[in-house]
Amino acid sequence: MRSHYCGHLNKSHIGQEVELCGWVNRRRDHGGVIFIDLRDREGIAQIVYDPAAPESFKIADQVRNEFVLRIAGKVRARPEGATNPDLASGEVEILGREIVILNPAKTPPFLLDEEHLNDDIRLRYRYVDLRRPAMQHNLRLRSRVCRVLRDYLDARGFIETETPILTKATPEGARDYLVPSRTHPGSFFALPQSPQLFKQLLMMSGLDRYYQIARCFRDEDLRADRQPEFTQLDIETSFMNEAELTHMMEGMIRELFREAMNIHLPDPFPRMTYDEAVNRFGSDRPDLRNPLELVELRDLMPEVDFKVFAEPARMPDGRVAALRLPNGAKLTRKEIDDYTTFATRLGAQGLAYIKVNDSNAGMAGLQSPILKFLGEGVVAEILKRTGAASGDLIFFGAGKARAVNDFLGPLRNKLAEDLGLHTTPWAPLWVIDFPMFEYNEPDKRWDPLHHPFTAPRIDSIEEMNANPGACLSRAYDMVLNGTELGGGSMRIHRTEMQEAVFRLLDIGPEEAQEKFGFLLEALQYGCPPHGGIAFGLDRLVMLMAGAKSIRDVIAFPKTQTASCLLTEAPSHAPETQLRELGIRVVKSAEKK
Ligand code: AMO
Ligand code: AMP
Repeated sequence: MRSHYCGHLNKSHIGQEVELCGWVNRRRDHGGVIFIDLRDREGIAQIVYDPAAPESFKIADQVRNEFVLRIAGKVRARPEGATNPDLASGEVEILGREIVILNPAKTPPFLLDEEHLNDDIRLRYRYVDLRRPAMQHNLRLRSRVCRVLRDYLDARGFIETETPILTKATPEGARDYLVPSRTHPGSFFALPQSPQLFKQLLMMSGLDRYYQIARCFRDEDLRADRQPEFTQLDIETSFMNEAELTHMMEGMIRELFREAMNIHLPDPFPRMTYDEAVNRFGSDRPDLRNPLELVELRDLMPEVDFKVFAEPARMPDGRVAALRLPNGAKLTRKEIDDYTTFATRLGAQGLAYIKVNDSNAGMAGLQSPILKFLGEGVVAEILKRTGAASGDLIFFGAGKARAVNDFLGPLRNKLAEDLGLHTTPWAPLWVIDFPMFEYNEPDKRWDPLHHPFTAPRIDSIEEMNANPGACLSRAYDMVLNGTELGGGSMRIHRTEMQEAVFRLLDIGPEEAQEKFGFLLEALQYGCPPHGGIAFGLDRLVMLMAGAKSIRDVIAFPKTQTASCLLTEAPSHAPETQLRELGIRVVKSAEKK
């Protein structure tokens, strides 16, 4: 139906007859001449209709935004002064000869070039939203990313394999989406939270290197970088250790950035232990574009006359930390109050600070409500440790270490964003040496920090049981600009260790058998040492596209409440269908 894409036309086509198809981006009436900006996925071309061709002119006069047209005409240079440097085709236009309305369109729910579109309307009319060049760009980038990743893995002997969607629960820490079985009334499939167990089984099957661009389902609280249905680049290998695997994986991400965006990421990626990341940045996914760091002060504080600092300093799991903001003394009272509100929303009881007006003038050069409680010696040591200079500001966090990190970590990121402190556009790293277990205080038991198939660093079950809190795992996360891009581990490949870990996690033999019996059995039939990783594909593309939310790189995403505004899913099921499935909807739930 067409000879060219609109966006491909340029000076080299001058004089040619062309046929184009697309949507009306805009129609303008200029003193008896009609201009139509016709848009297709490659861009926009300007078509001119003048009354000299009365039939076409009449039709051109009827078209409105988003009508679908096929046009024919001759490419000519735009007159001097009428060129548009913002358009690839901006030096030419088409003198329209023919025009066919392939389909009229209702007035679109929003203008495609509107700046601040309402998210709900965008999702409700997603097919219109996706016509916007920014969205087209994102989807095409995503397609390119998948191709580069596939090529890289294919070249290294990885075998792309699909795993079931109707399956058994895989524990990744979220709730499952359940699917009732008609043929087994009262029984349910779970949608996979990840292909974790299947990819391990594929290693036991001798596949050696597996990958899949896999859809995962997790019923969890949603955020800008979380969707209930998302995509992983899922990978598993046999007979490779963590050094070999992480080396190959960072090579893949480097190649991806080079191929898709001509960006050169560091080689190698820096590595940081979990402890170091948490101590220096208050987070296990530190944003290393950001030069700010937390400084430990706990040891200075047990004796100070300030309960807010002294009490946590005496707690075994307490933390008192400082965050120096260079040139921060110029923050206004209101700005400091706003940061305090930011911190208290994240659970802080307050946000103490010292303004360093003159670092050489002793206490007199400082300004803070808490100076008098700390005493000269402690204050001098704080200045020394933080390296504070005149004009700086020091924020403080005190409390349980976890709680302090939970507000100082995000505050660190916010300050860098607000004040434009990033020193580099891309900062990848590996976080390693994660703890194997995390104590769940409310439930009085150990939880896996990663998942229960991750191998511990030590081989001795006795040592692991003796002090689970001190046990490190063979897990690693890849972090990019403060986002956890991917995570993985070497897996347990011996039955005894897997059983011991289940026991430690308080998963009894019966429960283990019922949930993972097939895995425990498979471990006994010749399981190679194996390990892998999964990358969040949506997050990866989001970062590459510079998008604010993974919703902008998923064609048909869900809302914050996990519904689809376009199709109105989830929806009620007809009574007959429910009866077939042996399901009755309870009244109270219906009312809600
Ligand atoms: P994990 O649970 O860390 O590991 O997931 C791997 C990566 O998937 C992405 N991700 C998400 N992206 C969007 N929405 C979500 N709700 C969501 N949840 C996770 C993140 C994360 O780093 N089976 C293991 C991997 C392994 O051990 O090999 C797993 O699923 O980018
Ligand atoms: P208060 O004694 O509670 O009035 O607090 C004195 C100062 O310490 C105020 O500036 C508070 O904002 C700050 N503050 C209180 N609790 C904390 C905390 N947990 N971490 C950091 N600063 C705090």
